[in-house]
Amino acid sequence: MIIKESWKKAGYVTEPIAAGTDLVAGIRKMCKEKNAVILAHYYTDSAIQDVADFVGDSLALAQKAAKTDADIIVMCGVHFMGETNKILCPDKKVIVPDLNADCSLAQSCPQKEFSEFIAAHPGHTVISYVNTTAATKSVTDVVVTSSNARQIVESFPKDEKIIFGPDKNLGNYINSITGRNMVLWDGACHVHEKFSVERIVALKQQYPDAKVLVHPECKGAVVKLADKVGSTAALLKFAIADEARVYLVATESGILHEMQKSCPEKTFIPVPPEDSTCACNECNFMRLVTMEKLYNSLKYEWPVVEVPEDIRVKAIRPIDRMLEISERLGL
Ligand code: 13P
Ligand code: SF4
Repeated sequence: MIIKESWKKAGYVTEPIAAGTDLVAGIRKMCKEKNAVILAHYYTDSAIQDVADFVGDSLALAQKAAKTDADIIVMCGVHFMGETNKILCPDKKVIVPDLNADCSLAQSCPQKEFSEFIAAHPGHTVISYVNTTAATKSVTDVVVTSSNARQIVESFPKDEKIIFGPDKNLGNYINSITGRNMVLWDGACHVHEKFSVERIVALKQQYPDAKVLVHPECKGAVVKLADKVGSTAALLKFAIADEARVYLVATESGILHEMQKSCPEKTFIPVPPEDSTCACNECNFMRLVTMEKLYNSLKYEWPVVEVPEDIRVKAIRPIDRMLEISERLGL
């Protein structure tokens, strides 16, 4: 397969697709022919979630990749998720339909600067959020996601000295609920930082009975307003089990698709970002994954995610450690 220079420049396959092509049928047919599996994060477009074999949060996606027997994994999400899959499955082809799908948290924590930070805090265990590059994971002791961060932090003795990076909001939240005093890297998600107390309070006046669902990547003042704080999967699980009729959702609005599908009788209202006229808060990186790019990435089996072997062998240790602890704790 010849990878065109124009594709490399764009970061995705730019070939036009014939008018009238049934993208869903074509994608499903190629998955069958090529023994490919499509994994999608809850923040991707609804059409992507609907065509995927599996939709989940960061932890579930890593768990699924680790167990798949497919030859090709198409990770509809952001680049670090594709890297995690490649680290776990080095012999498989791992595709992310647009290589530009980065993450502001991963960007905020380059391996070199993080290593200097670690060197400045000798004797600390290094815990990294999964939203990091493979290189940053390679200097980490254990990886966490927002689904298991609390339990993994608590699996260490109370007096363990811990560095937590890159999300200061998640780190502050975990410190507050565990009574720990982890040293935090100064990173944040540009999407979750945009949720404000004012917007939620205004919506609460409009919908006084609504419950507030908040992702822990939000600022502390926003987290304080929550009826439930949790990962995307935890917020979804809460909404399914809970008795309220209306929910204000303070996380990337892609999750509303699965919430509405799972609870058609309930109303989910996306909390808009601060200082914006947009109705909902979307991650510009996640939304780079489109049906057309997914179709072409399967057709041409490109763009693939590569992780240098010297980085991979170091980065797999903290990921395996996370998966082992999660399995032991039934997460
Ligand atoms: P979770 O799906 O693990 O809650 O992660 C949120 C996120 O920001 C993924 O990039
Ligand atoms: Fe990264 Fe934030 Fe987008 Fe999640 S929502 S992928 S943390 S930039």
